[in-house]
Amino acid sequence: MEQLNIQSMRLNDETNLPSIGFGTVKVKGAQGVVSTLTAIEAGYRLIDTSTNYNNEGMVGEAVRRSSVPREELLVSSKLPGASHDYERAILMIQESLYRIGIDYFDKYLIHWPLPKQDQYVEAWQALVDAQKFGLIKTIGVSNFLPEHLERIIEETGVTPATNQIERHPYFNNNELVEYNKSRGIVTEAWSPLGRELNDVLENETIVSIAKKYNKQPAQIIIRWNLQNDILTVVKSSNYAHQKANLDVFDFELTEEDLRQIDSLDKGEAGRVEGQHPNEYEEFD
Ligand SMILES: NC(=O)c1ccc[n+]([C@@H]2O[C@H](COP(=O)([O-])OP(=O)(O)OC[C@H]3O[C@@H](n4cnc5c(N)ncnc54)[C@H](OP(=O)(O)O)[C@@H]3O)[C@@H](O)[C@H]2O)c1
Repeated sequence: MEQLNIQSMRLNDETNLPSIGFGTVKVKGAQGVVSTLTAIEAGYRLIDTSTNYNNEGMVGEAVRRSSVPREELLVSSKLPGASHDYERAILMIQESLYRIGIDYFDKYLIHWPLPKQDQYVEAWQALVDAQKFGLIKTIGVSNFLPEHLERIIEETGVTPATNQIERHPYFNNNELVEYNKSRGIVTEAWSPLGRELNDVLENETIVSIAKKYNKQPAQIIIRWNLQNDILTVVKSSNYAHQKANLDVFDFELTEEDLRQIDSLDKGEAGRVEGQHPNEYEEFD
């Protein structure tokens, strides 16, 4: 078992999270259990799932089979759009816990704001209450824009600890990152490597910076997040990649490297699947 010292991040609720988490989109079934176990072996402790990924059972199986005790693993899931109604949200959180076979979440997020449905404030109230009931340790959101954040903070008095948003070099989302920071919210970056939907890992700027440090392009992107105080949620089913993605604590990018990576941003056109949080809707 790797004994890695993954740098941790302090949240506004006084808890600490590792700065790199294991993403599980498309990590499913028996193969998914093996991938998640090798990720834990590689040193990941934070596991990011969602009811919408249809793999919470797989995550639970990996947690049970792992030799790492449950209390050392950090399990995070997300509330689906069909459960924003307060009562449904509370039941969904309980159901999700049963699916995984655990009795509390270390972190739980609202997956998307769905502003046209306009129930994200009551969904947030459900997370706030579920935290009080002991079902969740850290509560946060995902894909929330400043107007959504302002509303939930104003109407409930509770600020999310994290906001998990799309961020990779072609869509750096820097304005939202800055906004999160201004409210004391830690940004988590999803699809940091573009999920094979773009060619960011072959981008010549990234490749040339990687060569300079004798590192891989993926490591450069994870380091770019780290130096911007951003938690990276990265998926890999390949043990060598899983290990490489944690091997980012022995070098430092210069201000010029960071600026060059920032300059790759393509604005809205850079989103991997065009999912604007004010438009994108999922009702699973
Ligand atoms: N909140 C949201 O709305 C939201 C949306 C999307 C994603 N997410 C979360 O964010 C996580 C990460 O995003 P993602 O899964 O979309 O994609 P990603 O992490 O950006 O990219 C995953 C892809 O990169 C490859 N890869 C990983 N490490 C590599 C390395 N060192 N070198 C080369 N290739 C490498 C993987 O292939 P191999 O498996 O072969 O290594 C996989 O094809 C998700 O799994 C999920 O947990 C959240």
